[in-house]
Amino acid sequence: MEKEKFYITTPIYYPSDKLHIGHSYCTVATDAMARYKRARGYDVMFLTGTDEHGQKIERIADEHGVTPKEYVDGIVESVKELWKLMNISYDRYIRTTDDYHVKAVQKIFKALYDKGEIYKSEYEGLYCTPCESFFTEKDLVDGKCPDCGRPVEKVKEESYFFRLSKYGDRIIKLLEEHPEFLEPASRRNEMINNFLKPGLTDLCVSRTSFKWGVPVDFDEGHIVYVWIDALSNYITAMGYGSEDDSDFKKYWPADVHVVGKEIVRFHTIIWPAILMALDLPLPKKVFGHGWLIIDGGKMSKSKGNVVDPVVLCERYGVDAIRYFLLREIAFGQDGNFTNEALINRINSDLANDFGNLLSRTVGMIDKYFGGKLPAEQEEHPLNEEIKAFAEKTASQVEKYYDEMLFSDALNEIWGFIRRLNKYVDETAPWVLAKDESKKGLLAGIMYTLAEGLRIIGVMIEPCMPDTPGKCRIQLGIEGAELSAWDSIHSFGLLNREVNVTKGAVIFPRIDVKKELEAIEKSSGADKKTEKEAKKAEKKQEKKKKAAEAPSEIGIDDFGKVQMKVGKILECKPVENSDKLLVSQVKIGSETRQIVSGIEKWYSPDDLVGKKVIVVTNLKPVKLRGVLSQGMLLAASTGDRLVLAGVNGDIDDGADIS
Ligand code: MSP
Repeated sequence: MEKEKFYITTPIYYPSDKLHIGHSYCTVATDAMARYKRARGYDVMFLTGTDEHGQKIERIADEHGVTPKEYVDGIVESVKELWKLMNISYDRYIRTTDDYHVKAVQKIFKALYDKGEIYKSEYEGLYCTPCESFFTEKDLVDGKCPDCGRPVEKVKEESYFFRLSKYGDRIIKLLEEHPEFLEPASRRNEMINNFLKPGLTDLCVSRTSFKWGVPVDFDEGHIVYVWIDALSNYITAMGYGSEDDSDFKKYWPADVHVVGKEIVRFHTIIWPAILMALDLPLPKKVFGHGWLIIDGGKMSKSKGNVVDPVVLCERYGVDAIRYFLLREIAFGQDGNFTNEALINRINSDLANDFGNLLSRTVGMIDKYFGGKLPAEQEEHPLNEEIKAFAEKTASQVEKYYDEMLFSDALNEIWGFIRRLNKYVDETAPWVLAKDESKKGLLAGIMYTLAEGLRIIGVMIEPCMPDTPGKCRIQLGIEGAELSAWDSIHSFGLLNREVNVTKGAVIFPRIDVKKELEAIEKSSGADKKTEKEAKKAEKKQEKKKKAAEAPSEIGIDDFGKVQMKVGKILECKPVENSDKLLVSQVKIGSETRQIVSGIEKWYSPDDLVGKKVIVVTNLKPVKLRGVLSQGMLLAASTGDRLVLAGVNGDIDDGADIS
């Protein structure tokens, strides 16, 4: 019989930097589902990849002095290495710079244009470069990007538009009539009330102000909007738009797109609309998971709160990290990452509950039976209850896995582990071992424990792919039928004459206090060396610039610097910095945010209301993750610094020349 297909995807990652543990969370969850479905006999297609175009990548590559392709090539390598380390069993990896994808996206764009779904007009609006997203005024939150909270930029250019507005009603109907299309339910209401009910506007789907993207092949200078390029990966990776589209025919529609909550909007509004416009079937489900939170916010490089998954895996083991991610965070909700929570989970669930059950079972079989159980065994009165417990656990676990509720599934499995540990205490094998006539009963208890562990191994395998193999070696379990998924429903499948081999402790206990101190020390040391390196680099740069600066400049050079009078409206210190202040400065009709290293000389209150001189045409930069759109001029000598101002009353916005 032909296997039923199951097509599952992760978002394709922006290779703008190394991935952090928040990114791994999404991929680990998708991997657990893919492994579960394979174990259940499905023909699984698990797709992941990288989303390599866009202005952000172009800018970063430029800052590094390399081409965008050179830049992303390096990062893609590290992404693939990370997935290898974390045992991510993807079947296909797509790069949006792959030739076949580029060609297929061009075809999709042209098809939409030919059908009248895309038209040419002029775009004037707001763009968030880090999120690669367009917004209207009403989308903004406090004037900033509703997704990441960063400032947006005004852009105006000739563009192509996709007729998104005409799909609003169909998408509302889709979400209302097929609640299973978007889970969890809370995200559905958010989409309907915040985006669909207020009305959709047509979507700008091409750009002309930068080059790094898929060129629109019938209009030179235009490149395809990065989200159209990115979303299309789910079908181009299956061969849609290429000569061989057999995988597309086999696997599409996707069974589930797993995505983070901030990109649910793209997957449940824009993506279905594009597919509707192309007359293609829609994915069956989009699962919007929550964020891994650290210090109260989403992990991000700009916030400086990223946690490196490679370091964690090397320190604690891949399965421990996978277990923590899937157990600690109820899928769909946000969850907190702290080193303490991680270590506590490792100690209590993995070392105490699970590791201990395995080592005491193997240890007792070794001690009481020289490593091999006799075939003659008697049933302890509690065995029936344990068997029933195992059967109930197996069906519950299946139900939770089917719904992608990994934390619930693991919780259920650990309930069974704890029940078995209690069973050891209740049956007190060490007492029975003293009585030769109780050997059969003792052997029956040991068998129940070994069989329980076998079933546990199968049930945890989707989440922790390395651990069951280690348990099987210690318990002498061989043969595919004993590790097949369906065997979890057949308590008693294991051969009675269990033959064990004592092995290493699978999850060593960690000394919480010592470990936290060590982490603190190593991250402190890292911070220091990083800081020192940055300082030295800056000094070096200053020196270089001073050496390069000509002793005299012409009036033309001076004219390149634009300066204006500004008035400081608000000012506060920059978080995690003892040098920087961030001010909101009114310059005529606009207000800019400017970061200055003046905290040593000014308190924020001193500055509010002050008129200052602002260099207004400096490239915006980020200092400690805070955007600075200009520079305040100051006079300094030795250890003294005074902000430059104007000598008389004049409105802010006035030119300095
Ligand atoms: N390139 C787009 C996706 C295009 S899919 C057609 C993108 N890339 S991303 O690299 O920024 O994010 C990839 C995924 O990682 C997203 O689902 C995002 O939600 C997830 N996460 C990033 N940080 C995260 C946490 N701190 N916690 C959980 N998931 C996180 O978006």
